[in-house]
Amino acid sequence: MADVPILGLDKDHREAAGRLLTSFFDDYERSIPDRPLVPEVDRDVLAGLLANPFPDKGLGVEGLFREINEKILPNSTTVAHPRFLAYVLGPPNGIAPYAEAIAATINQNCNFSQLSPAASVVERAVITWLGGLFGYDERSGGILTGGGSIATLNALTTALHARLPGFREQGLQNSGPQLVVYTSVEAHRCVDKAAALLGLGTDNVRHIPTDDHFRMRVDALEDAIRADRAAGREPFCVVATPGTVTSGSIDPIDAIADVCEREELWLHLDGAYGALFVLSERKREAFAACTRADSIALDPHKLLFTPLEAGCLLVRDRSLLAKAYAFSSSYLTVEEDPLMLDYMNYGPQLSRSFKALKVWSALQAFGVDAFREAVDHMLDLAQYMADLIKADPGLELMTPVSLTAVCFRIKDASAADHTAVLAELIEEGTALLGPACLDGRQGMRACITNYRTTRDDIELIVDRLSEIARRRPATDTPETTL
Ligand SMILES: Cc1ncc(COP(=O)(O)O)c(C=O)c1O
Repeated sequence: MADVPILGLDKDHREAAGRLLTSFFDDYERSIPDRPLVPEVDRDVLAGLLANPFPDKGLGVEGLFREINEKILPNSTTVAHPRFLAYVLGPPNGIAPYAEAIAATINQNCNFSQLSPAASVVERAVITWLGGLFGYDERSGGILTGGGSIATLNALTTALHARLPGFREQGLQNSGPQLVVYTSVEAHRCVDKAAALLGLGTDNVRHIPTDDHFRMRVDALEDAIRADRAAGREPFCVVATPGTVTSGSIDPIDAIADVCEREELWLHLDGAYGALFVLSERKREAFAACTRADSIALDPHKLLFTPLEAGCLLVRDRSLLAKAYAFSSSYLTVEEDPLMLDYMNYGPQLSRSFKALKVWSALQAFGVDAFREAVDHMLDLAQYMADLIKADPGLELMTPVSLTAVCFRIKDASAADHTAVLAELIEEGTALLGPACLDGRQGMRACITNYRTTRDDIELIVDRLSEIARRRPATDTPETTL
């Protein structure tokens, strides 16, 4: 590689890398349906990766691709497999790897506009479009994050700064009344995590009980707020969930917003899983009240199928983000510009990758309709799966399907039985499903956040589950309540 910088590639090597990359993409795409959902991990290979020091003399481009093909790929989970239905994780969209490669090539630092002028506008365009889905106006803003958990952490940070005038200077050290956060028992752990990280303490997170459809009970929320006020504590924020992680239940956002308004509480929505279902005409009404929230966390790396990581925090009043995150620094060349925002003032990071490019590229390349269609397709499949389960004598739904999470059980099977079935489905290559625990009952969950999944895949899974249910001995082990 003479005449090129020591860490650069010359023309021949660039071409070789391009060819190898193209055939990697191609081979991978073609092999997806036949790849193991979860790899049979070669522990010796992985231990070797850990133990072997990096070579003093590099392997070169071809040697590197060989390592990736022989060691990394065979020990990787096939997230894009059409029957990968565990957790809330989708396959990357088709243009994503190319957008990622371009972002890595131009390596914009998305902190202030001198270092990333176009990137700043691209991120703003993405944020404005996302905010518009929830009826947020020009006063709103936001930032792309590493994911929904970080977006919720950033939202609670913003809420604290908005609530406590001296929070920047004193933190929580000025021994005012204990601040309390409210969320439901079905909320994602990221709410507790944020409370722990911010020094609020998980003891000050109230997990409000849910109704029989796993939605936060507004009467119980009001009772809890009343009890805390009576005890001298200070309610300050409610985190509601439009699409809970287990069952996809949508908390009654409008009624919760009424409570927040009356009680002067910050309303944050953890929409990491559910919020982008707003793209479906059919679900628009269910999400209409989201516009009343002070902030919304959502995840382009879920329903927009961008590769990890791309989360997003939207805030109704973006000046509150700046109040929390803007610090001036004499060592940065920053100029106010009405067009280009300095994203270091809207979140905790200084150096930031160009995450917006992969979101923007997918929306440009495929158009918004393609995403609407994908979302509707997944909603249809979830409903179809629910119908098949309801019709099967050996299976039962644990709760009606609100979005695309289908929680179900094999009738009379124990928690251990369900764990064994999940493992069996993986082992035989049928599907990767996740566990579900609702109301202390253990079952399974298929979360359809995969645009590659078809009705045939769903039928294959339910047929197999039905067979497993039928082969169970007549004298069933009693159901274990967890
Ligand atoms: C409701 C909810 N909140 C938060 C998260 C966490 O999001 P992330 O993994 O992007 O941090 C998830 C993940 O599935 C979720 O479903």
